[in-house]
Amino acid sequence: MNFTAMAHPLFFLLVLSIFPTASGTAASLSSPYCPTYDCGNGVQIKYPFWRLDNTTSTQFCGYPDFGLTCSDSGEPILSLPSDSYYVKNISYEEYTLTLVDIDILDQPCPRARHNLTINGTLPLYYSSLDLNLAFYFNCTSTPSVLQYIQCLTSYAMKSYVFIVGEETDDFDWLANCEEKVVATVMEEEISIANLSGGFGGAMKKGFILDWGSVRDCGECEAHDGLCGYNNAQGEGLCFCKDGSVSRDNCKGMFFFTFY
Ligand SMILES: *[C@@H]1O[C@H](CO)[C@@H](O)[C@H](O)[C@H]1NC(C)=O
Ligand SMILES: *[C@@H]1O[C@H](CO)[C@@H](O)[C@H](O)[C@H]1NC(C)=O
Ligand SMILES: *[C@@H]1O[C@H](CO)[C@@H](O)[C@H](O)[C@H]1NC(C)=O
Ligand SMILES: *[C@@H]1O[C@H](CO)[C@@H](O)[C@H](O)[C@H]1NC(C)=O
Ligand SMILES: *[C@@H]1O[C@H](CO)[C@@H](O)[C@H](O)[C@H]1NC(C)=O
Ligand SMILES: *[C@@H]1O[C@H](CO)[C@@H](O)[C@H](O)[C@H]1NC(C)=O
Repeated sequence: MNFTAMAHPLFFLLVLSIFPTASGTAASLSSPYCPTYDCGNGVQIKYPFWRLDNTTSTQFCGYPDFGLTCSDSGEPILSLPSDSYYVKNISYEEYTLTLVDIDILDQPCPRARHNLTINGTLPLYYSSLDLNLAFYFNCTSTPSVLQYIQCLTSYAMKSYVFIVGEETDDFDWLANCEEKVVATVMEEEISIANLSGGFGGAMKKGFILDWGSVRDCGECEAHDGLCGYNNAQGEGLCFCKDGSVSRDNCKGMFFFTFY
């Protein structure tokens, strides 16, 4: 089934917290309506992402942590434990998500405030296209030859940026600076030779997270199933064409034509 055919009515039967067990038939679902949604910036919000607004806390049109709100300016927003991020792109083919820290977007010289926290509590992982930058703000005594961030420096308090792990040896940055923040950018947006001049532009382009660990949904769809999520049991479901419900996908099942 070609899932660009989003208008297919079965697609909207996705959800499923109401679903007490992973058995039963698709026909028994009361079907919360989960349309594909566009906040305005062209990013299609569909399973496993869903629009958080107007949804009760027990019924999810997608993965529980992947509920998105819309900003007034028409950008989807993902709230992570650490901070909120604009969603600039969702790739349903490559299972990636492009995020930009909301805090920094309107700053001419972005000053990251929060470490991105994706520490295993969410099904999100760094992409191999990313690079982590370590910022040290308001440092007092520092090695004098280093290039500092001019736009974040006042009086004797200088700020520095490094690729994480490539800080100058033999200097205790944590002890000599007011704060350390790690921010993620796309490697291709960074010029290593001009980190301290170019980091701002790179941060505004955002970074990529991989949500492929919930890609079971793709497998389910590839086998002509429709994807759902059982919130009570914290597991993905696949609603197969023959009306059965499977925990992984409909592979090897005998398909009945059902519509
Ligand atoms: C909730 O839905 C109503 C009716 O569709 C709509 O008018 C309202 O703007 C929605 N609320 C939010 C927060 O999107
Ligand atoms: C979204 O991400 C995909 C995969 O990385 C990429 O192919 C596509 O060009 C991106 N779209 C936009 C609008 O950035
Ligand atoms: C992950 O980060 C959150 C938010 O900072 C924190 O509450 C939680 O304890 C962390 N979990 C682990 C396993 O580090
Ligand atoms: C450095 O400290 C000063 C004074 O506390 C503060 O106003 C400024 O925002 C700090 N700079 C950075 C980059 O954190
Ligand atoms: C960010 O994480 C680093 C460890 O990588 C830690 O030393 C630092 O205190 C954290 N900064 C903030 C603002 O939480
Ligand atoms: C570093 O990058 C900034 C922003 O792109 C640019 O204005 C500046 O000229 C660059 N500096 C060098 C030395 O290339």
